[in-house]
Amino acid sequence: MAAPIIIVGGGLAGLFCALKLSPRPVTVLAAAPIGEGASSSWAQGGVAAAMSEGDSAEKHTADTVVAGAGLVDEAVALGMAREASDRIHDLLAYGVPFDKDLEGHLVQSREAAHSERRIVRVRGDMAGKAIMEALVAAVRKTPSITVLEGEVAEGLVRSGDRVNGVVSRGEGGRAAIARVLPAAAVVLATGGVGHLFAVTTNPPQANGHGVALAAQAGALIADAEFVQFHPTAIDIGRDPAPLATEALRGDGAWLVDREGRRFMQAIHPDGELAPRDIVARGVFAEIAAGRGAFLDCRQAVGAEFPERFPTVYAACMQAGIDPVTQPIPVAPAEHYHMGGVWTDVRGRSTVAGLWAAGEVASTGVHGANRLASNSLLEAVVFAARIAADLGSTPLPMLDAEPRTADDAPASGFASEDEPVLARLRQTMSARVGVIRDGAGLAEACREITAMTAEAQGATVRNMLTTATLIAASALARTESRGGHYRSDYPEPNPLFARRSRLNLSEARFL
Ligand code: SIN
Repeated sequence: MAAPIIIVGGGLAGLFCALKLSPRPVTVLAAAPIGEGASSSWAQGGVAAAMSEGDSAEKHTADTVVAGAGLVDEAVALGMAREASDRIHDLLAYGVPFDKDLEGHLVQSREAAHSERRIVRVRGDMAGKAIMEALVAAVRKTPSITVLEGEVAEGLVRSGDRVNGVVSRGEGGRAAIARVLPAAAVVLATGGVGHLFAVTTNPPQANGHGVALAAQAGALIADAEFVQFHPTAIDIGRDPAPLATEALRGDGAWLVDREGRRFMQAIHPDGELAPRDIVARGVFAEIAAGRGAFLDCRQAVGAEFPERFPTVYAACMQAGIDPVTQPIPVAPAEHYHMGGVWTDVRGRSTVAGLWAAGEVASTGVHGANRLASNSLLEAVVFAARIAADLGSTPLPMLDAEPRTADDAPASGFASEDEPVLARLRQTMSARVGVIRDGAGLAEACREITAMTAEAQGATVRNMLTTATLIAASALARTESRGGHYRSDYPEPNPLFARRSRLNLSEARFL
């Protein structure tokens, strides 16, 4: 039997690509049951798509470019915006119950930094969950898709100049032996980097391993320093931290300190609706000053909270906070990685045989700061393009028989690695977090190198590789732009108005 296309990741990009490839045989490797362990399932926003009257792909692109702080590849962003409507129709065909009005037209709402109402949603804050439920059901009904759950990808196999296999370990990464699964092509769809940080809105499987796998296989990594911190994760000591969606501020909720004083108006003319990085720094500063930060939804949402924001309501009530009558304690949390595996408009990385889609990829559409609700859109647009590219590209015929990965580390996750992981997450939040400086970043690079010498298992080693790329890239960018803020270089520098690209042996700007 010939080796299949292997898709690594069971989130939106991975499943959408698998469905688009049908009836071609594909194998999806997922660390958790598909749909679980994927940030897409937790998305409370929706999908941005210029489909309402008076809106256009050009307007959507203009908003994306402004949010991206000078680094968005405008042509790529325009292409994405133009394909949005077709991808929304695909999702509807897969059974996604997007909100519609009584006449059957999609209801579109507005989010910060969007000039039009262009977000398609599901029942308030349930879009990610509803999309993933529909796709998981469609995948389970598609005979050409083989799903291997509990498989953690630890490496890619490269022979000559081409990637042609995945090193994978079963039992959620705890199996004694890792296997090489031969692949005609590999699509990375492993999601983001949240669990490199102490506080994140991402599920634990979003630990940055996809970037490490690609970099170790020789692929270029782009814009690694650009990490988006969401300003309003609910601060109730949970890991991961539940999100209080930006739509709450879109609906008029206020950010206040412990005394009930609004603080964003003094920081930015748009107040609570300022760009996400500015709000995150505002919240960070209030907490650092000991005044605390809270999202007060009492006036803006009030008694309608349970019906309009059921996911946020449930998270608050579980923690004993009733958002109808009490302000919600919030803190910034790692939310989205704009950087990742550099890909072209077809989703191809710089290494033959390797494609990447979704948050693990860096396509150029987000620049230094992603516009809200562009992440799910990017995932489906590029997953569909990858499926089309794979359909028109001759792939090698390889024997599909798995073999033991002789040179894989003895374990996927060694218990000795627990303290290393905890230190890594603290270091990343403290020194590579919302506010960075040169001394802290240099120290982070040293600490990560020291931890790399201690780590035993493949999982933490891969996390350290990606952490190295992010910290080194942030150290090299001596300016502030979008999600990357340096207190020692607080302004943008036109000399750095370009994307960064680096590989494992150097960090350089191209
Ligand atoms: C949110 O709902 O606040 C997050 C949406 C996004 O990150 O696009």
